[in-house]
Amino acid sequence: MSKTQNHQKVILVGDGAVGSSYAYAMALQGIGESFGIVDVVKERTEGDALDLIDATGFNQPKNIYAADYSDCADADLVVITAGAPQKPGETRLDLVNKNLRILSTIVKPVVDSGFDGIFLVAANPVDILTYATWKFSGFPKHKVIGSGPSLDTARLRVALADLTGIKDPKSMHAYILGEHGDSEFAAYSAATIGGRPFLAWAEEHGVTKEQLDKIEDDVRHKAYEIINRKGATFYGVAAALARISKAILRDENTVLPVSAYMEGQYGLNDIYIGTPGVVNGEGLKEIIEVPLNEEEQAKMTKSGETLKKVLNDGLK
Ligand code: NAD
Ligand code: LAC
Repeated sequence: MSKTQNHQKVILVGDGAVGSSYAYAMALQGIGESFGIVDVVKERTEGDALDLIDATGFNQPKNIYAADYSDCADADLVVITAGAPQKPGETRLDLVNKNLRILSTIVKPVVDSGFDGIFLVAANPVDILTYATWKFSGFPKHKVIGSGPSLDTARLRVALADLTGIKDPKSMHAYILGEHGDSEFAAYSAATIGGRPFLAWAEEHGVTKEQLDKIEDDVRHKAYEIINRKGATFYGVAAALARISKAILRDENTVLPVSAYMEGQYGLNDIYIGTPGVVNGEGLKEIIEVPLNEEEQAKMTKSGETLKKVLNDGLK
């Protein structure tokens, strides 16, 4: 399989609930021309490839196959969803040791293949594992991206669209920032609707601070609600990964929430954390630093400190 000029070859590492849902989203949306699947359970990747190819019969043709690490050599994008998910009651940060061990067995063979594309990481705790992927790979920071708060931001926008009665989540220009995890927060002060400050619109329409605080809290706890009921979350993140993949593979230069390396933005340094950024065929072109009020800045600082502590304890 040769690397095309159009950025079209993807290798997925981790064919579990998240990985296979992502593969399905990519097949249904016709994103990418070639899609290889790697997992320690080889037979599952073979079965999934056969199954997913059937879905392309209703979309554009695409090569989907069970891959190994040598297939990464000319890939444009490697997506890492390998790792243990949370059990009920566990936080994402509780997964750190287990999933760092798994990650360390993945990044080296990908890099050893000669891979020179972009890493997109989703395994949890995603901000920590994205940092580790950057460290283990030696890649430039713009070529290593985490899914970060992309799923949480979608959850926020869906909830706000419901609350406001402006039903389209894409009309809610609002972001979840910080860790993809318990210290994340909604940057309401910078949110807009149709160019109008969201908080001004909300006040005019009788939306209360309590309602907005509840939505923020519900978003923060949404994964727990899902995990308690069905054991794992996968469709939402699969859609988020497909969206980021499309921005990379189609060189969109679009603004998306991701986990990005901080060099002074938000007063933070040497961590990966959630922020909007411009995503294109080269990876993360630019971080868009959201202007925060004092209370939100304090939350961002705290979220950064949470991640820094985990990095200091577990990685450095
Ligand atoms: P899962 O157990 O269903 O799948 C994990 C897969 O990884 C399995 O197929 C397993 O065989 C594979 N794997 C394990 N070790 C491997 C290795 N060394 N090399 C290759 N493959 C290996 O788990 P899941 O529900 O798919 O979740 C995967 C990860 O995604 C978890 O860490 C979970 O917390 C995370 N997640 C992230 C988000 C997000 O928004 N970032 C959302 C949901 C889940
Ligand atoms: C999520 C996962 C568990 O659904 O990170 O947010």
